[in-house]
Amino acid sequence: MMRLVLLGAPGAGKGTQAALIKERYDLAHVSTGDIFRENLKNSTPLGLEAKKYMDAGQLVPDETVMKMVGEKLAEFGADNGFMLDGFPRTVAQAEFLEGKTKLDGVILFNVSDEAIVKRLSSRAVCRSCGNVTNLAEHDKCPACGEELYVRDDDNEQTVRSRLKVFHEQTEPLINFYRERNLLHEVDAGQKPDEVFACVLKLLNHDKN
Ligand code: AP5
Ligand code: MG
Repeated sequence: MMRLVLLGAPGAGKGTQAALIKERYDLAHVSTGDIFRENLKNSTPLGLEAKKYMDAGQLVPDETVMKMVGEKLAEFGADNGFMLDGFPRTVAQAEFLEGKTKLDGVILFNVSDEAIVKRLSSRAVCRSCGNVTNLAEHDKCPACGEELYVRDDDNEQTVRSRLKVFHEQTEPLINFYRERNLLHEVDAGQKPDEVFACVLKLLNHDKN
């Protein structure tokens, strides 16, 4: 199962698990949120457009996201292995993806809203290497020692909007992929290494 979609609410641990999967399997990791933040850092028109939506906890319009992902898929070849993290997030995006490539599986990371609000209240990201960690345990990046920052959209009010958007616009994808026999669910309320053990079981199982 090497053409993967990582599906889950904001803060479900998609980025954390993607980093662990990448250490084991040589897969391209495409996080649409990371691409927007990178564009914003460089003040590109795409970054500035996306910022308006991200700050409000809303989705960037489908056309913009699909164009960007289409270009990425063309860049590394849609038939090679990849993990899409944070895409698709609407049925229109999922239909677009279906027209571009055949997926091997979708991993759904299940966590309660309350656990997510708690997690995101202490998330920190490294300015230098992008490593995701939390302020409860670290004040510098544990991977490279550089400065950590808090994402603009991690305040409680924006997190609540992001959760609402997830339930309304992204949750329909659960049935979309279930109907296609692609959905695998993982209890993402466990510790990161326990979640990863479940992910590995799925990936190994599918390879055999
Ligand atoms: P994006 O960057 O994708 O944000 P998100 O989906 O809201 O998800 P996060 O990155 O916040 O969480 P995550 O699941 O990666 O969790 P993480 O591993 O960091 O998108 C941002 C915005 O961009 C969107 O709101 C939207 O505006 C726009 N956008 C992006 N894609 C789009 C699309 N396709 N269409 C339209 N708009 C789009 O973990 C979170 C925290 O929890 C960390 O502190 C971590 O250390 C901790 N943690 C992780 N796992 C565990 C665990 N098992 N136990 C305890 N703590 C854990
Ligand atoms: Mg992420």
